[in-house]
Amino acid sequence: MAVPFVEDWDLVQTLGEGAYGEVQLAVNRQTEEAVAVKIVDMRRATECPENIRKEICINKMLNHVNIVRFYGYRREGSIQYLFLEYCSGGELFDRIEPDVGMPEADAQRYFQHLIAGVEYLHGIGITHRDIKPENLLLDDKDNLKISDFGLATVFRHSGRERLLNKMCGTLPYVAPELLKAKEFHAEPVDVWSCGIVLTAMLAGELPWDQPTESCHEYSDWLEKKSFLTPWKKIDTLPLGLLSKILMENPKKRISIPDIKKDRWYTRLLKKGVKRIRALSGGPSDSPGTFSKQIRSDMDLSPMASAYSEERIKYSSSQPEPRTAFSSWESSHSCIDKLVQGISFSQPACPDHMLLSSQLLGTPGSSQNPWQRLVKRMTRFFTKVDAVRTYSALKDVCEAMGYTWKKSCINQVTVSTTDRRNNQLVFKVNLLEMDDKILVDFRLSKGDGLEFKRYFLKIKGKLNDIISTQKVQLPVI
Ligand code: ADE
Repeated sequence: MAVPFVEDWDLVQTLGEGAYGEVQLAVNRQTEEAVAVKIVDMRRATECPENIRKEICINKMLNHVNIVRFYGYRREGSIQYLFLEYCSGGELFDRIEPDVGMPEADAQRYFQHLIAGVEYLHGIGITHRDIKPENLLLDDKDNLKISDFGLATVFRHSGRERLLNKMCGTLPYVAPELLKAKEFHAEPVDVWSCGIVLTAMLAGELPWDQPTESCHEYSDWLEKKSFLTPWKKIDTLPLGLLSKILMENPKKRISIPDIKKDRWYTRLLKKGVKRIRALSGGPSDSPGTFSKQIRSDMDLSPMASAYSEERIKYSSSQPEPRTAFSSWESSHSCIDKLVQGISFSQPACPDHMLLSSQLLGTPGSSQNPWQRLVKRMTRFFTKVDAVRTYSALKDVCEAMGYTWKKSCINQVTVSTTDRRNNQLVFKVNLLEMDDKILVDFRLSKGDGLEFKRYFLKIKGKLNDIISTQKVQLPVI
C-alpha cells in the first residue's frame, strides 16, 4: 500500500555546481529524509552518456563508511539523476582556515578516514584520481566521505593491474610522474594527493601550483628546505610522514599499509591542540608568501575528457556487483521510491525554496536533519528588512567595483577578479527567516580562499546592519 506523502520530495537547495551540472538536496516531505541528487544533462557533452555510465558503474561497486553511499539512479529524457548520501557537514575544504589549517588531532582523524576510504578503493581495484578537499565531504558525525567518482577508473581487474596514461586530476594535487611519465601506477598517485590534502589541513595552504622543477616551491621541497612555508608550520612527526608521501619517485613513495604504521598516523593526539614546530632560524618569509589556492580551478581534466582514455569495458554479461543501494532497500523505502521514479516538486528557482516553502513553516522544522548547524563561515544575518539588505549589499559591491547581476528573485551573482587576476564569481542568496534576513554567499567560480577573503571584506563593510544575535542557522 502506498504511504501518503512519502512520495513527495522537495529539491530544497543547490549543494554544488560543476561542469557536469549540479547537486541538489532533496528532502522527503513526510519523513524528512535527505538525499543528495546529482543532476546531469546528458546533452552537455557528447561523451557525457559514457562518462555517466562509468560513474554509475563504479558507484555501484562501492560500499564503505568513508565513501559517499550510492542509492541508485534514474534517467528522465536527457536528464540523469544519481541519488547519493547527503553529507550535512559540507566539504572538508570549509574546515580549513586559510593560512592556518586546523588542529592536528582533527587533521589526523580526517586523514585516517581518508586513508581508510582510499585503501578500500584500491583494494577493489578502483582509483579516484581527483582527491582534494572539495571532493571530501563530512557527515553529521564529522566522518569523512570520499565523493565524486566522475574521474575514477579501474586499475586492477581479476588480479591484473594496468598502468594508467591519462593525465587527469587537479594540478596542485597531482603526482609528479603524471606530468612526466608516459605510464604510471595508479595507487601512488592517489597516495600523493592524500599528502597534499594533509598539507592543506595542517598549514592552510597548498605547497605548490604543480610538482615540476620549474615551480620553485617544488624545487625547494626537493632540496628539503623545510624551514620554508608551509613546512615550517607543520610539526616534526607529521612532516616526517609528509616527506614519505611527497616522495618524487613513486617507487620509493610510502604505501598505504606503511602509512598505517607511521608514528604520527598511529599517535594518540589531544583534541584542540595546534602543534607548531619550534623553528631554528631560516629565512623569515612572511606567512602566506607561497600561499597557494586550496580550492583550485586548474583542473587538468574536466569531466569532458575524463573517460576518453582506452579503458576496461564493462560488458553487460559481467555479473552486476551488489549495489550499495540494495543493502538499504528494507530500511529506506522512501529513498527506494525516489529511485523508482517519484517526481520532485521543484520550484522555478530551487535556491529560493526556503524563502517561500512550506518547509520553513513546518512545525518542528528546526529539527529537520538537513537543518542542523554547520560551520559555514560565508553567511550572516542582518537586522534590517530584505529591501534594505539588498540595497546595502548592492552599494557595497558596486563601490568595490564588482559586477552585480540579479540572477532571480532573492539571488544575485557577483563577479570580479582576484589579486592573481583570476575570475571570482559568487552567488548571494537572501533568505527570510523569522524576522531576519540570512545573507548566504556561495562560490561559483574561482579560488576558495580568495572567496573567503572577499566575503570578510564585504561583511566588514555591512557591520552596521549585521545582527549579532545568536540564531541556529539551517544547513543549506
Ligand atoms: N555536495 C556534493 N555532493 C554532496 C553530498 N552528497 N552531500 C552534501 N553536499 C554535497
